[in-house]
Amino acid sequence: MTGQNVGVPDNPATPFYVTTPIYYVNDVPHMGHAYTTIAADVLCRWRRMFGDDVYFLTGTDEHGLKIQRSAESQGVTPLEWADRTAVRFLEAWEELGITNTDFIRTSEPRHYAAVQKFLQVVYDNGFIEKGTYEGYYCVPCEAYYADDEAAGGACPIHDRPLEFVREDNYFFKLSAFEQPLLDYYEQNPQAVQPESRRNEVIGFIKQGLKDFSMSRTSISWGIPLPWDRDHVTYVWFDALFNYCTAVGYGVDDAEFDKWWPADYHLIGKDILRFHAVYWPAMLMAGGLPLPKCVFAHGWLLVGGEKMSKTKANQILPHDLIEEFGVDGYRYHFMADQRFGPDGDFSYEGMITRYNADLANNFGNLANRVLNMAMNYCDGVVPQERANGPLQTQAEAGFAGLESSLAKLDFASGFSTVWDLIRSTNAYIEDRAPWALFKSGDRVATAEVIGDCLEALRIVALLASPVIPTAASELWRRLGQSGTPGEQQLPDAARWGQLVPGNALEKGDPLFPRLEAKTQ
Ligand code: MSP
Repeated sequence: MTGQNVGVPDNPATPFYVTTPIYYVNDVPHMGHAYTTIAADVLCRWRRMFGDDVYFLTGTDEHGLKIQRSAESQGVTPLEWADRTAVRFLEAWEELGITNTDFIRTSEPRHYAAVQKFLQVVYDNGFIEKGTYEGYYCVPCEAYYADDEAAGGACPIHDRPLEFVREDNYFFKLSAFEQPLLDYYEQNPQAVQPESRRNEVIGFIKQGLKDFSMSRTSISWGIPLPWDRDHVTYVWFDALFNYCTAVGYGVDDAEFDKWWPADYHLIGKDILRFHAVYWPAMLMAGGLPLPKCVFAHGWLLVGGEKMSKTKANQILPHDLIEEFGVDGYRYHFMADQRFGPDGDFSYEGMITRYNADLANNFGNLANRVLNMAMNYCDGVVPQERANGPLQTQAEAGFAGLESSLAKLDFASGFSTVWDLIRSTNAYIEDRAPWALFKSGDRVATAEVIGDCLEALRIVALLASPVIPTAASELWRRLGQSGTPGEQQLPDAARWGQLVPGNALEKGDPLFPRLEAKTQ
């Protein structure tokens, strides 16, 4: 704070806006939904530790034919149906420790108002006009397919028959944005990631963009067009706009300008085209800036296949959390596959990783070091500590995590933190504090244990975005106040900040070993 500008911070926190897709309410939250949401959560927790002002948005996508049909089949209204399922998502995210700022539902009045305002702008700008649509539609995708994409009349993603539709609709003039989008992606190479996805998007645009139908008269469950109330807005047009609704579009300009454009839209590769072609074109048509980065990750496969309701191969987070705990669940999916390519989930693989990384490496190290501190250092942080060899490892752990998370490479980032754990275990073997103690060298014993305790403090700090509960507990056992998530980076990662004389606590194993269930 400066003397002249009382009340105005010298360095206002940087706004950081991250979104997940909004999930369809025809499905209950499964492992695939949780994957994107946990990644967003880890990123947001990490940025908060750097003092960023974070807005983390998730929510539910509630309109469209798919939801209307699900509701009909259950004999309830679409809104009743959406109410039931939206709660399941809220509960799942709470259970998984997700720290979202907002949860948007597209059936909310705030979203109706924002979408109608935006539609009117796009219409007035001349990018929406009336026409007739004739062609194939996939209800699960809520998307049209051109004849050449729909081999044998089947959806390329869902592998099921498409429906033939003919409707008088309003069309969004996507074709007008072919060149502007190519120019934009040329000038902003970071805008779609990873690189392979960017190439895919550019390739798609270069094939030529066709105008798409953005309204329906055949269904009623949606947002009416403000200039023609016989039509409801096409569900994707409405859904994508959630990202602007939530941060005050049309209601609070200062708030909107603060957050928009989003720093990251995290999505699965299945919805890349909507986010990297339709969405930026819509924003251009409405005179709004484009998101800084659309990051499309791969799928979590089960037995080589994408989970889906129809294939009945969905795994619900709750079932695994009962066994692995929330931290065990979160850690597995962030560490097990790169955030980009597809990865195959296996229960046996999850048991193996849990036992190796969490029970053996993380948990045993904490247990071992605290145990020795109890026995050899009277249960308090030792007074004298050398800036021992682990300092370099700790700095490398922090630097590695920081540079990897800047690329959303969660797996590599946490593996550098686990390298610090492994180095600390090796250091213990090498220096054998039990032998030092036995030989009566109290100073050397205290130095080695002091180094290990400090390494553990940094491990707790760096691992906290992914395993927040265990990291907080370890932090507490180390005699630290607050939680690791409340610390300020990069300062808190500097070596040598344990408070000498603070009482330590051994506690129970943080990650008890698991045996695979045989059934
Ligand atoms: N409602 C649209 C998104 C609108 S965003 C404006 C939608 N919803 S969805 O419920 O089908 O969820 C899509 C997202 O869930 C995917 O893009 C992905 O982020 C996540 N996943 C769903 N299944 C998945 C896997 N099997 N693996 C990884 N992520 C997957 O599409």
